Amino acid sequence: MTGELTRRALLHGLGAAGGAGAMLAAMGALGLVPGSQSHAFRAPQPGDFSLTGRSPKRVVVLGAGIAGLATAYELRKAGYDVTILEAAKKVGGRNLTLRGGDEITEIGGVTQEAGFRDGTYFNAGPARIAQWMITMDYCRELGVPLEIFVNSNADAYVHTGGKSVRYRTARADTYGYLGELLAKATNQGALDADLTAADKTNLLDLLREFGQLGEQFTYEGGERRANTGPIPSVSEVLGYRIPQALFWDLAHDQAMPMFQPVGGMDRIVDALAANVGRHRIKTNTPATRITDNGREVVVEYKNGSIKADFCVATLPPHVLARIPGSLPPEVVQSLGSGFNFSGSKLGLEYGRRWWELDEDIYGGTTETDLDIRTIWYPSHGFHERRGLLVGYYHLLDQADSYDALAPAARLERALKEGEKVHGPRYRKDLLSSISMSWRKRPHIEGMFTAGLQGGLLEQAHGRVYLAGDWLTDLVAWQAGAFESARKAVLLIHERALKEN
Ligand code: ALA
Repeated sequence: MTGELTRRALLHGLGAAGGAGAMLAAMGALGLVPGSQSHAFRAPQPGDFSLTGRSPKRVVVLGAGIAGLATAYELRKAGYDVTILEAAKKVGGRNLTLRGGDEITEIGGVTQEAGFRDGTYFNAGPARIAQWMITMDYCRELGVPLEIFVNSNADAYVHTGGKSVRYRTARADTYGYLGELLAKATNQGALDADLTAADKTNLLDLLREFGQLGEQFTYEGGERRANTGPIPSVSEVLGYRIPQALFWDLAHDQAMPMFQPVGGMDRIVDALAANVGRHRIKTNTPATRITDNGREVVVEYKNGSIKADFCVATLPPHVLARIPGSLPPEVVQSLGSGFNFSGSKLGLEYGRRWWELDEDIYGGTTETDLDIRTIWYPSHGFHERRGLLVGYYHLLDQADSYDALAPAARLERALKEGEKVHGPRYRKDLLSSISMSWRKRPHIEGMFTAGLQGGLLEQAHGRVYLAGDWLTDLVAWQAGAFESARKAVLLIHERALKEN
């Protein structure tokens, strides 16, 4: 296999094995996710032009997702004449929050309307923000209020092999047996070649705490697991089919605390769009041709065209690659070099917050070995009457197999799976549901693209620049979209200050 194919297979395998969280964590281990994000950024300012005798240029941005909106927002700070062309009727791209009355129409024509009551919303795209991400900086700057997103919860479940175990219990038992086994190996001399006598004493002290072990370094249960019945056998614990469910919340991009905007993720979109100015955003306007004649860029769309000094294309790479025009062939080839993941999410609105009332679960997620992969409990609206669960969130084959069904059949299948975790109450107080297939989302056609080759973000392609999370190490994160926008903006600004 070529390196490229290996990488694709690896990404595919990771996604299939662990779901989005685990896959992205594993990408971190492969060096595909950075250890941190630089917060240093000096936005273009109007004064930058004053001594140059030049003035801010015209920029056309393709796509009003986070990358496109952020590009426009930053350029506007220095007075650039910016127009955004957005193919859909709504701005935001994958940052999509659905509320009662919202409609989604899939490629293929299936339409669903969100039947949610007042106040209920569903973040069908991004839903969580890590504290180190520059998305936090934008929320601060834009005045978007945040609240905690409960990403992991000791009282949610790990569901594997047909059984639901509280997360705290599954973890306590796993750590307990790991501690016991390692202590046994240490005491039997298996590690003598690796450890000094002092190391061994220290290790045993550590293991006692790690596993809450007894006097003889045996695991006998403990308060961490809570009083949830007899301790399972070591074979049963080692047989948990989803070991990643025990550790995914240690991943750099999934660790608590995490955050969400109060009222819905699209509060970020609203704030960016308001700052850019809605009159600068043309919705329902897919670009049909991009021509760079060396002096300016002409972008054509149905019934019109626009000329600009520069273009920033933020469309998904597979969509951009299809737009005819003068993008160099090697760029078009690079745009097709990534792996485009399908991904799907189901929103379930209930008239009774039974997970809080009957199961003491306030936020967090249950990880499962079922084809729904995960159930999310809401991190807001505690003790209100209604609430919304995420009934599946999965990638690749699992997403494809649900996407292939009509919405009612997706719901029915997901409810059958969810009942294995929560029993009949999973069905009882359901008020409405809506399923989002990112593969079937017009103009987007996938959840995210990873593994793109070619350093496309770092350079100009004539007068065209690219931006999008898919060009950074932070794929499938708004933080990647923001980072890419900043890079494109700085490249353009540097050139605009020099060019006549
Ligand atoms: N960033 C996405 C998540 O956290 C993929 O699930």
